[in-house]
Amino acid sequence: MGKIVIIASGKGGTGKTTLTSHVGAALARGGRLTALVDADAGFRNLDIALGLESSIVYDYSDFINGSSDLDDILIKSSDLENLYFVAAPQSVPTTDFSEEKTEEFWKNLKNRFEFVLADAPAGMGDGFMFAAKHADEAVIVSLAETSSLRDADRVVDVLEDLGVETVRLVLNRIDPKLIERKIMMNVDDCIDVLGIPILGIIPDDGAVTESMIKGVPYMELTEGEAGIAFKNIAERLEGKQIPIMDFETGGKKGLLGRLREFFGHRQ
Ligand SMILES: Nc1ncnc2c1ncn2[C@@H]1O[C@H](COP(=O)(O)OP(=O)(O)OP(=O)(O)O)[C@@H](O)[C@H]1O
Ligand SMILES: [Mg+2]
Repeated sequence: MGKIVIIASGKGGTGKTTLTSHVGAALARGGRLTALVDADAGFRNLDIALGLESSIVYDYSDFINGSSDLDDILIKSSDLENLYFVAAPQSVPTTDFSEEKTEEFWKNLKNRFEFVLADAPAGMGDGFMFAAKHADEAVIVSLAETSSLRDADRVVDVLEDLGVETVRLVLNRIDPKLIERKIMMNVDDCIDVLGIPILGIIPDDGAVTESMIKGVPYMELTEGEAGIAFKNIAERLEGKQIPIMDFETGGKKGLLGRLREFFGHRQ
């Protein structure tokens, strides 16, 4: 039996879709049978992040309305053996779904995969609830800024009310230079504001945006600082004990090397 992990945020644009695709790819590369579900019905874009937009024939509304089975709606990645994707419907709202079939959908995924990552829309609307009610764990993606953290806090409350026991934080687009200049909040302060355990820290890295723009989304980022950050998050989701700042930077003191110095006491 696998686990369903919802990737959520309070504010939009914090990096949920980016994280879902890269961490999903890292899990698959590590040999874990992984399914990525776009929970953002109506505004789907995980398909683009995975380079699978032209492969979509069915989506999960076809399973939930009973016209397709799980095999029909699962799209296999052409690049990674263990990676599958399930598309969101573009015009069927999740509020039209029966509770019973929705539960069956998530249960079937859980029975078949080791990891099911659900890329939620920002906030606590219908798409979020569609996945959150069935999630075993949650990853909250936030930027290191007060408004992003404050909105994230409300999402954490709702997840806890729903009984999701493991709710962890990923801080995205961290820039040590901005922290040093006291323009960006430091990691410790962010953790204090939310009061949930940290799962990972991802540097602001132009390679992330570039890989999206080039349309070769998660494939190129196996190395480099952001790539290592995504891999470490995948391994922590697997339960491996990896010190939060223990990144390997190939001997060069890069962005994460500097971060490590900043937060060396966490190691
Ligand atoms: N670590 C990073 N470094 C640089 N750019 C990043 C990083 N993470 C995300 N981005 C960029 O930020 C933008 C928003 O990312 P993304 O679409 O993943 O956010 P989201 O939380 O899924 O947004 P939404 O709430 O609209 O679903 C994208 O252009 C992405 O390339
Ligand atoms: Mg998104």
